Amino acid sequence: MPDAAVELRHVSKTFDHGFKALKDVSLHVEEGEIVALIGASGSGKSTLLRHISGLICADRQSQSFVDVAGQRIQDRGRLSGEARKIRSKVGMIFQQFNLVGRLNVLTNVLTGTLGQMPRLRGTFGWFSTGQRQLAMAALQRVGIAPQALNRGANLSGGQQQRAAIARTLVQGARILIADEPIASLDPSAARKVMDILQDLNRNDGITVIVSLHQVEYALKYCPRTVALRDGEIVYDGPSDALTPDFLSELYGAESEELFLPGLEASAARPAQEKAAA
Ligand SMILES: Nc1ncnc2c1ncn2[C@@H]1O[C@H](COP(=O)(O)OP(=O)(O)OP(=O)(O)O)[C@@H](O)[C@H]1O
Ligand SMILES: [Mg+2]
Repeated sequence: MPDAAVELRHVSKTFDHGFKALKDVSLHVEEGEIVALIGASGSGKSTLLRHISGLICADRQSQSFVDVAGQRIQDRGRLSGEARKIRSKVGMIFQQFNLVGRLNVLTNVLTGTLGQMPRLRGTFGWFSTGQRQLAMAALQRVGIAPQALNRGANLSGGQQQRAAIARTLVQGARILIADEPIASLDPSAARKVMDILQDLNRNDGITVIVSLHQVEYALKYCPRTVALRDGEIVYDGPSDALTPDFLSELYGAESEELFLPGLEASAARPAQEKAAA
């Protein structure tokens, strides 16, 4: 049986003023899976993903923990002393691309190696030939090698997101946590980014957990979907089962928000159901 890439147990998160953003969430993601995380705005997707990357700590409950790549990154709401090291195995991609606009793309991607080199050297941007080759190979992989020397700020949104993915490759991440990576992109750039995540998952065995506003992409790219509502997992299973009817049942009026604007309900239905229709 494959090892767990990510294991959360009994994770609750209460923010200031007593607001409960996560309510006793448990989740098991195996190595090599690609899993979609869906839910309306405010349902807790980012909060959940930030627990996995150790950016925030859960409530201090006795049975609560988060394991990443077999190591406990948080235990009973306290961050492990090894969190930084564990986090280096996790690549993070966000809706806002988080590139340094004034640096060229190659340098942005090379910052993925900073966790592994002496601080001074990193600060001065002295990268070895080997590191540069690695970064160029990563840019090639995501299809933006010709842009290597352009400033980050001059890339299109889709290209910036691909550079962000290349940075996680250079980092050597085996787990990718992508928080709405396509929310700011047009459909063609969105597909390209999702194609790359799928390729890394299928061909490199990288585990991917990707939060998505549009269910259509979950259906197309991820065999498994986890659905959140008000901080609780309300569905965890095959994406195929997420018919519009089921989604309205789960989300009520909010379900419309989960589809692409203008998307026909039938277009979001799983292929097998359409075939039967
Ligand atoms: N630092 C914080 N302090 C207080 N409340 C917070 C904090 N971070 C998130 N929340 C609240 O927790 C809830 C879940 O937020 P979260 O960002 O996880 O939702 P989301 O599903 O990612 O939404 P979106 O689709 O809009 O990105 C929201 O109601 C949000 O306002
Ligand atoms: Mg979010």
